[in-house]
Amino acid sequence: MATDIQGLRKYELPQLPYKIDGLEPYISKDIVDVHYNGHHKGYVNTANTLLDRYNGIIKGDVTSYDLHGLIRLLTFNISGDKLHTLYWDNMAPSGKGGGSPGGVLGDKINKQYGSFDKFKKLFTEAANSNPGTGWAVLNYDKETDNLQIMTVENHFMNHLAEMPVILILDEFEHAYYLQYKNKRADYVGNWWNIVNWDFAEKKLQQYL
Ligand SMILES: [Fe+2]
Repeated sequence: MATDIQGLRKYELPQLPYKIDGLEPYISKDIVDVHYNGHHKGYVNTANTLLDRYNGIIKGDVTSYDLHGLIRLLTFNISGDKLHTLYWDNMAPSGKGGGSPGGVLGDKINKQYGSFDKFKKLFTEAANSNPGTGWAVLNYDKETDNLQIMTVENHFMNHLAEMPVILILDEFEHAYYLQYKNKRADYVGNWWNIVNWDFAEKKLQQYL
């Protein structure tokens, strides 16, 4: 349970929805260990530390600060927690994920992209063309009732306001380098084998 310190609830590292080796052979146990227990936990802990400092500014206990830098770091770490939580939930253990989506999501993909294969090709191209560190995402825009493939630079997802994430792929080197080295396209290609389409469908249904 979240704790309450100085009136602010703290962030908590969510449980992984599968065993730490559950994504093998597509994503190795070592990668998930470093990624989840190292990076994701780090974002959660840093967000909480920064919130304590921010709360100190609000209360007047902290009088010397760089607010711009603090807010930027807070944005990076809170978004890091949110994005990684979606990323873990968006995958299923080997043998239980992959394939193509059914339900409303499957229908919308077929209607909008012509076929799942065409959508998969376009999402893969977006992911493979994303420079540096970031994410490939499929968003739902309620205003147009359309799905939208987008990319996120670093952890700054502010431009996704009002466009919830339905599908998400982490493209930071920490997500694949131990296993795939510089072959990021191989990681992207293998990731399709462990996509949890049931979770993506549930996410979409939340916003229809
Ligand atoms: Fe990551």
